[in-house]
Amino acid sequence: MTFTNIEDIANYLVADGKGFLAADESTPTIGKRFDAINTESTETSRRDYRELLFRASGMDENISGVILFDETLRQASADNTLLKDVILKTGALPGIKVDKGVASINDSEEVLTGGLDGLEERCTEYESLGAKFTKWRAVIKIGENMPSDNCIEANMQALADYAKIVQQSNMVPIVEPEVLMDGEHSADACFDATSRCLNSLFANLESKGVNIKGVILKPNMVLAGQGSSSQLTHEDVAELTMKCLLENVPEDLPGIAFLSGGQSDIDATANLDALNKLGGNPWKLTFSYGRALQQAALKSWLGQSENVVNAQEAFSHRAKMNRLAALGKWAEDLEGQKSSYSIY
Ligand code: 13P
Repeated sequence: MTFTNIEDIANYLVADGKGFLAADESTPTIGKRFDAINTESTETSRRDYRELLFRASGMDENISGVILFDETLRQASADNTLLKDVILKTGALPGIKVDKGVASINDSEEVLTGGLDGLEERCTEYESLGAKFTKWRAVIKIGENMPSDNCIEANMQALADYAKIVQQSNMVPIVEPEVLMDGEHSADACFDATSRCLNSLFANLESKGVNIKGVILKPNMVLAGQGSSSQLTHEDVAELTMKCLLENVPEDLPGIAFLSGGQSDIDATANLDALNKLGGNPWKLTFSYGRALQQAALKSWLGQSENVVNAQEAFSHRAKMNRLAALGKWAEDLEGQKSSYSIY
């Protein structure tokens, strides 16, 4: 696959009905996912699990990009094919998480994502290894006096600096300002925090001269906190999220690919579908799910090679359901007898 510029790559990544598989869990995070299914996390077990996803039939037609962790971009399959080539064969593009995680801001509860040091050199290498896009995640918490203006501004500045460097390496930056679902806050509080982040993010991207047509936004949906007793309907999530995006996101951005953030897999699909049924958006609206695409597969796999086919079916089903949601064509009865999973 050849692309003439980053705008071409961005448009390819948000082709109708296609979205991202986020498989870029750091080694400690995938370790926690494997602990939950009593499976030891080793280089080989991580490889086997990710390889089963990349070889599942649901990759074709539904997935345009896979976000990888450094280890996976360099890793070869059991039959010695580079995993990034397994991904390319399905028509999806390999991408890479480039941030280095979070650190506390002045010993407070708030955090700033790091990783700008040496980023230019790392991007040059990743591009030469075949990555076509990258991801950087900022983490924003809602609570007493949170998020502070200082935390939002510092994180959105870093996201803009990151995006500029990545575009100079001819890759598409996914910018991910995640307002967490943790807490008992209202949907209004989430709306307010998300608005402030997006407003600051696009002001920073513009002031650094980032080409918006070569960027993909990965935001949270506007939801009540996980612990709140007044949860929104899918239609209300869609309306509030759309309002927030229309007020803050420029029209020339090619696409928005939501994170799942701890929603159950079926809620994440239903909310994306409701957004696309609402319409009126100038950008593509799709998925970039980690947990919501993988939970059912992990529970089917349980670290056992005899369960690979079942795990692939579980993943493929979610990929297809999310394709339909990205087109606004999903319906609950298409889920059949499948259970809803969530991990938080
Ligand atoms: P979740 O969909 O599990 O939130 O993960 C998406 C992601 O890539 C977070 O950075």
